[in-house]
Amino acid sequence: MPKATNAVDDTPTRRSVLIAGAGIGLTATACTREARPPAGAPGPGAHAARRRQAGVTTPQQATALILAYDLDPALRGAAGARELKAVFAEWTRALAETQETQERQDAREADGGREPREPREPRDALEADGGRWSRLTATLGVGPGLPDRLGLRAPDALRDLPSFPGDRLDPARCGGDVLVQLCADSADATEATAAALTRLAGDALVPRWRQAGFLPPSPDGGGTPRDLLGFKNGSANPTAEECERWVWSGDATYLVVRRVHLRVEDFARLSVHRQEEVVGRRRATGAPLEGGSEDDAVDPLAKDAQGRYTTPPRAHVRAVSPRLDDGARMLRRSYSYADGPTDQGLLFLAFMRDPALFARVQRRMAAQDDLTAFTQARGSAVAYVLPGAGPGRPLGAELLA
Ligand code: HEM
Repeated sequence: MPKATNAVDDTPTRRSVLIAGAGIGLTATACTREARPPAGAPGPGAHAARRRQAGVTTPQQATALILAYDLDPALRGAAGARELKAVFAEWTRALAETQETQERQDAREADGGREPREPREPRDALEADGGRWSRLTATLGVGPGLPDRLGLRAPDALRDLPSFPGDRLDPARCGGDVLVQLCADSADATEATAAALTRLAGDALVPRWRQAGFLPPSPDGGGTPRDLLGFKNGSANPTAEECERWVWSGDATYLVVRRVHLRVEDFARLSVHRQEEVVGRRRATGAPLEGGSEDDAVDPLAKDAQGRYTTPPRAHVRAVSPRLDDGARMLRRSYSYADGPTDQGLLFLAFMRDPALFARVQRRMAAQDDLTAFTQARGSAVAYVLPGAGPGRPLGAELLA
């Protein structure tokens, strides 16, 4: 690998973008939303001894960038593991430095702002929203093909996803040996970080595909983000306790990525009433069809005065209901994507302790979910999200030991 340079030894502008508080998992931050009681938020001190990567239960930032890399095909076995270990160590160091720099700057500013941030272009200034820059998180995982190639024991639940009816997957948008989820409030921050990570990887990791995502502007001004169909997406996410049980496997988890094309215009032609029947929640409020508020769980057995189920049998929320999986939950942290006027959809991102849950839910969707008339998966990947870094333990330390 060529000598890697430090992610923060860059041009001033780039550098100021990179000093965006890369929470790479030295500590776990909590919850998926800020405006409402945090779903997935650990109680105070709950994770004192935990080393979990950020970007899982972190409140969603405005933009995401998923990067998939392949290990250089020439690298295999112990030599390949050594190379990858060196890259992960570089990434860990570079991201930790950006985090420390951010914290120092925050502390100085909190101390009276005597030392303003370094000069920056107006574009960068936009990121200094509320005194904190982009809330960048980097979340790193490895794909199913990697451990075997390196002669390593694969994490128990790391397997390729099966194929599903209705998928139209483009191989150029699938898989990858290393997956990185970058999230920030500014796409400049994720892009600059992506460029730095790719540069630091040298020849060892070859970019395979990338997908940018965003949260559409919300008429609610905060709260659960909406998808391009106009519905709140992420309402029924697991609580902190449920995340402990169903999302985390020790300090690790699994990420499922699906690039799901949406037939937005066809869906928009439906009446709001029919849209709500297809999804199984109210469009304006996110509340279940039987009433209540967004925070209420859907009761699939609830009936109206005429004795009909209030949530239709083929509604999305019925097909994906955790009740059909003995209560098993996934933490959805999806973004929207728009790649030109004819291809837009949901960058479905979900964390869970075993991706077999995703496969079960997706199969039920294919069989009994009216929403699938408006969806088509075109990209797909799964990754084992590594335990977070700690003192003397870079990302991947356990896997690549
Ligand atoms: C393809 C595009 C999709 C769209 C537009 C979509 C949209 C939604 C919406 C609007 C809700 C209700 C609000 C909420 O709880 O977030 C929901 C719930 C949910 N969706 Fe999807 N979804 C999609 C794909 C998927 C996929 C692929 C899966 C997993 C295989 C999935 C799993 C879930 C789950 C688990 C819930 C919560 C159900 C509950 O606990 O009541 N969705 N989705």
